[in-house]
Amino acid sequence: MPTTERAVPPRVAAAERVAAEAGFKQSCVPEVGRLLGLAATTKPHGVIAESGTGSGVGTAWLHSGLGAEARLVTVERDAELARRAAGVFADDDRVAVLTGDWRLLEQHAPFDVFFCDGGGKRDDPERVVELLAPGGLLILDDFTPSPHWPPQFDGEVDELRLFYLTHPALNATEVLTTPFISTVVAARRP
Ligand SMILES: C[S@@+](CC[C@H](N)C(=O)[O-])C[C@H]1O[C@@H](n2cnc3c(N)ncnc32)[C@H](O)[C@@H]1O
Repeated sequence: MPTTERAVPPRVAAAERVAAEAGFKQSCVPEVGRLLGLAATTKPHGVIAESGTGSGVGTAWLHSGLGAEARLVTVERDAELARRAAGVFADDDRVAVLTGDWRLLEQHAPFDVFFCDGGGKRDDPERVVELLAPGGLLILDDFTPSPHWPPQFDGEVDELRLFYLTHPALNATEVLTTPFISTVVAARRP
């Protein structure tokens, strides 16, 4: 029977099973995941970071582009989720799944790719930018597409999105990853 869905990497499928077992419903969608894999591929010797591991779906997408010399570090404050996600990567010592607050990531900075998806994005955006290496890529998921400039959410200017899109240290844009999800992609100016 032909399918219309593109297959996902086996490790992503494993992390999706963990999400289903844990009842976790905030994993990134494959359209965002493919962007994560692409970003990791651009930095074959890089430090790839993620705040908010969840069950490891985004981590697995980042892993799909991970170079042999690269490292991937992710952090999750929910200890049970972190434990389950760590199991998905137990065979690969390039990957570290940390348990605790997103600021634990700081000891691994600067980041060549930072998928900021749980902690940092809203509570300390300036620090998020500081943690990027020159040329480092920042990916921020889960915005609502807006035809306006400045971008709006719920009829108000979306100040957080505006912060990232206009930050002087970033060259940033917004892409529609699905018709309903917009993702900010930025590179730190050298
Ligand atoms: C949107 S989900 C992450 C989804 C995951 N990145 C993916 O793509 O599949 C956000 C996660 O961030 C975690 N989180 C929220 N605030 C955090 C913080 N300050 N430090 C660490 N983790 C945090 C939540 O527990 C939740 O599991």
